[in-house]
Amino acid sequence: MTTTTTEVLQLETAGFGDSLDERIFFTGPPSTAEPARLARRKAREAAARLLRTFVAGGLESEAHCERVAAWSRRLARELELPWDRVLDIELGALVHDIGYIGLPDLDFQKNEPFTPIELFELRRHPEIGVGILRQIPLLQRAIPLVESHHERFDGTGYPHATAGTDIPIDGRIFQLVDTYEALTAGSPRRPPMSDADARAELAARVGAQLDPAVHAAFERIDPTEWHDVAIWLNVG
Ligand SMILES: [Fe+2]
Ligand SMILES: [Fe+2]
Repeated sequence: MTTTTTEVLQLETAGFGDSLDERIFFTGPPSTAEPARLARRKAREAAARLLRTFVAGGLESEAHCERVAAWSRRLARELELPWDRVLDIELGALVHDIGYIGLPDLDFQKNEPFTPIELFELRRHPEIGVGILRQIPLLQRAIPLVESHHERFDGTGYPHATAGTDIPIDGRIFQLVDTYEALTAGSPRRPPMSDADARAELAARVGAQLDPAVHAAFERIDPTEWHDVAIWLNVG
């Protein structure tokens, strides 16, 4: 990242971007940066509209989606991915489970494990999500994450059982973020874990479920900053 503070301030006074991140990303003369920034903003708005429908249906909470999107973005930055890929990953994380819309009614709050038939249905949601997103031109760049967000590093995930670095980095990042989120948020069947316990659990899953390189990047992020990334969203 070579942008200087002065350049950022110049962009700020030129009315660029809503966030410091965007201002740093969209450097260059306003004439070249503006179309890219507008395209990204439109995509973010389309994702937010889709998310509202999804949240209104009670399938997942907005707080969960915003939290995993913010963490995915932070982790993608730590991995030094190009900025356009960082934004793809954030976009995909926002709508990761959008395919739930196409599933038969499943009770996510029930105390018993899912039956084999329910599991079979549930596992169709990445592909249903891809089918939905293909119809929305603004959200094409969310597709790699939505398609691969349940793949596991050892190839035991779904829907394609892809392994290792054949899994898009979008999905490998999201696997870690969503696991951390699931462990620390808890579920009707399991109480929430502390940050320290969740970190120990993640470490135990490296190589099997999680990409070692993604986990190493996660470990480099200061735990206080990681916590604050979600808190700053102010959505619970
Ligand atoms: Fe999912
Ligand atoms: Fe989710």
